[in-house]
Amino acid sequence: MTEHDTAYRTAYREFQAANPDYDAPAIDALRADGYERLDRHGHVYLDYTGAGLYSATQVEEHRALLLDGIFGNPHSHNPSAIDSTHGVEGARAAVHEYFNASPDEYEVIFTANASGALKLIGESYPFTPRSCYLVSYDNHNSVNGIREFARRRGAKVTYVPVRNPDLRLDAELIERGLSCAEPDSDNLFAYPAQSNFSGVQHPLEWTERAQGLGWDVLLDAAAFVPTNRLDLSVVKPDFVPVSFYKMFGYPTGAGVLIARREKLAKLKRPWFAGGTITLASVQGEGWYRLAAGATGFEDGTVDFLGLPAVTIGLKHLSAVGVDAVHERVSALAGWLLSQMTSMRHTNGAPMVQIFGPETMDRRGATIAFYLLDPEGAPYDVYGVEREAGVQGISVRTGCFCNPGDGEVAHNITREEMAECFETPAVPVTLQHCQSIIQDATGKAPNTIRISLGLASNFADTWRFVTFAETFRDRVR
Ligand SMILES: Cc1ncc(COP(=O)(O)O)c(C=O)c1O
Repeated sequence: MTEHDTAYRTAYREFQAANPDYDAPAIDALRADGYERLDRHGHVYLDYTGAGLYSATQVEEHRALLLDGIFGNPHSHNPSAIDSTHGVEGARAAVHEYFNASPDEYEVIFTANASGALKLIGESYPFTPRSCYLVSYDNHNSVNGIREFARRRGAKVTYVPVRNPDLRLDAELIERGLSCAEPDSDNLFAYPAQSNFSGVQHPLEWTERAQGLGWDVLLDAAAFVPTNRLDLSVVKPDFVPVSFYKMFGYPTGAGVLIARREKLAKLKRPWFAGGTITLASVQGEGWYRLAAGATGFEDGTVDFLGLPAVTIGLKHLSAVGVDAVHERVSALAGWLLSQMTSMRHTNGAPMVQIFGPETMDRRGATIAFYLLDPEGAPYDVYGVEREAGVQGISVRTGCFCNPGDGEVAHNITREEMAECFETPAVPVTLQHCQSIIQDATGKAPNTIRISLGLASNFADTWRFVTFAETFRDRVR
């Protein structure tokens, strides 16, 4: 037995003793059954917030369905169309069931991804100059982008900041923001159930609170639902965007907007397309939208071959059990946080700086951080990513499409950020902006992120910590 094996076994034993509910046989069986390719390639996958991983069993089941079926365009009534429609409607029913969303209350609208769901809301929400779009800083860019629709229609856009060091939202500021809605106008409040940058989880109770004050609520659940249960019979946001590949890896190109029927009725689409109308005429110049409902929002032909794989994916996640996944990744992320926060160089300086909460209190298994040198300066994140890659470890770097969390985490001010937007000669890229800020301020506004998911196990976290240890006392 090598020294490394002994250290691994000791650490695993200690981890199991500290987390008696960690179901090792279940994850071992899952890895062996549908994810054996990870171990075959010696790959440590730590970007589940970027994309989940599919099980081989999902792909096999989908393949068998495709190889046996004859699927035609669903906008017809022939047998091949009817089979396609069954697949699509089966997926719709599976989404209702998985999220416990009553079909009487919620519509399930298929989109290309979470961003597609968010664009549907942005382009159709009845913003007026009396409206307010209230947004938390830690939203994904696809939620931030809705502000362009809001502003174009004269609505006020208000951001609620997150605060260092935990990157949480201040409940008092949320209250203040919520109190400024003009009565009898349409106001939209958007926040993520879980930040895809810091892993912070915000209270789902804010949904009901905001609705009580007259707001429509967009709860971005894209980073939350892969490892947390969202029960729409308990929490009832008006709009919920999700990408399926983040939940179970396959298929890509399929997302959903789960929307309350009552609020869907107020969305006014800016155009019509095949599949969304009852009738359109070239000479008559008129058109009629489909009666309010999901299909009026699904432009053209939906992904009728891919959507049955959503049913298969939801079945897979249900069989593994999202609560079991939640328990497992929470235990592993707690272990990672305790290891990372206690790592020291020989001079006593911390080796890691975490951006966000350092314990598992109200957070998910997504961890943003720097690796620090003995002088306290961050190692180049892209260099770390490259080195991790050589070791077969996939981590994420950059700003993760979440500029608000990144700007606060790195203490970048409004004025410093403005440098990147002042009449640039060429469109500024993220890297270009990072060098503008770094040159002017010495701040390095980029980050490393690791995130756990469905198939993560202790060996993954151990391999990452072992990799991070190689930076001890490393001088540049
Ligand atoms: C919280 C959150 N919202 C929305 C999105 C957008 O998802 P997609 O790129 O699949 O449209 C992401 C993607 O990372 C996300 O993490």
